[in-house]
Amino acid sequence: MGIKYLRKVNKKYLSGTAIVRLDLNDDGYRMERAVPTLKYLLKFANKIVVLSHKGRPEPSLTLRDNKKYSLEPESVKLSKLLEKKVDFIGHIRLSEAGNEIRNAKSDSIFMLENTRFLEGEKEDERELAEHFASLGNYFVNEAFASSHRKNASVTGITKFLPSYAGFDFENEVENLSKIMKKPKRPFIAIFGGAKISDKLVTMLSFRKKADCMLVGGALANTILYLRGEKIGKSLVEREMDGAMLKIAGLKNLVMPKDFRKKGTIILDIGPKTEKEYGAIIKKAKTVVWNGPMGAFETKGFEKGTKKIIKEIATSKAFSVVGGSETLVLIRKMKLEKKFGFLSTGGGAMLEFLGGKKLPGVEALKK
Ligand code: ADP
Ligand code: 3PG
Ligand code: MG
Repeated sequence: MGIKYLRKVNKKYLSGTAIVRLDLNDDGYRMERAVPTLKYLLKFANKIVVLSHKGRPEPSLTLRDNKKYSLEPESVKLSKLLEKKVDFIGHIRLSEAGNEIRNAKSDSIFMLENTRFLEGEKEDERELAEHFASLGNYFVNEAFASSHRKNASVTGITKFLPSYAGFDFENEVENLSKIMKKPKRPFIAIFGGAKISDKLVTMLSFRKKADCMLVGGALANTILYLRGEKIGKSLVEREMDGAMLKIAGLKNLVMPKDFRKKGTIILDIGPKTEKEYGAIIKKAKTVVWNGPMGAFETKGFEKGTKKIIKEIATSKAFSVVGGSETLVLIRKMKLEKKFGFLSTGGGAMLEFLGGKKLPGVEALKK
């Protein structure tokens, strides 16, 4: 069976309280992409309750200790975007939140505090999922970027409520499905960033699909380390399992030849590597990219990522680029329109393109 899309649901079924899962774990771009779904629901739903995670907080810490992961700033942003008051529920007592929501006037929109402050979210605990579900009448997933996570607010909740994919979730699935059907060759995949173990494993599913894989970021550090090379104090994942060693041995990997460093810490690919990667991208017909080539937030170490952006933007290849940090510089450079498709997903996009069944996507099929 296919995914149940919100777009196709008869409006008469949308009149209750909608629980909408967003992914607000970025600088605001994913929220912008969710606006059409939220505006649509504002027309037909009685109330809206927004759920999201942010970062990777420890649920055992007190709210005060986890403050930097609070969604309060996101509730202010959403209020501005929708030009409508968003009631932020700054605690995680769900029964109390349920009462607040039920007692509120029609047309209210709520945002709950970070779902990862709750024990059981990451474990997809049934009891928590049921508790989330008790806050509304139906569920809309507009968080494609989280759909590779088996979390209570992503998958578990769908067991208790009619559940639909939001407009941008649909847009992601439709666009990403097209690309892998028959990618024009050469097909180049580019991997970087810092969520090392998550993303290294996705490389295995591209080993036969892509003609070659260019590697940068902390991912490259880890492969160099697995190959026994010296990487000083660079960011790395030292745990070696079978899959990781397999990745390090892949033949179609193109690794950086030089770096920009701070002491012994590798923080970006170097000029020779930029040139080599640029030449490969120039010949490509299809490019898939996730993960910055360096720690671009620090001045001087954004050069590698910028070069990759410029090369893809000027190439004739059809390009698909995703990930919260990967999109930051593209948007700063105002080059969004030069790319074939921008995915909100980082890990989720890679797993989807690699052919994996994502739990958050599967949960919307019935
Ligand atoms: P995305 O959000 O695009 O999916 P990730 O979350 O995996 O990407 O990684 C993004 C982060 O990777 C950036 O914040 C960047 O600073 C970091 N990064 C990239 N290269 C390095 C490096 N060599 N050392 C440390 N951090 C790096
Ligand atoms: C992302 O930014 O890739 C998503 O929000 C998922 O975050 P996570 O890797 O912490 O689950
Ligand atoms: Mg990220």
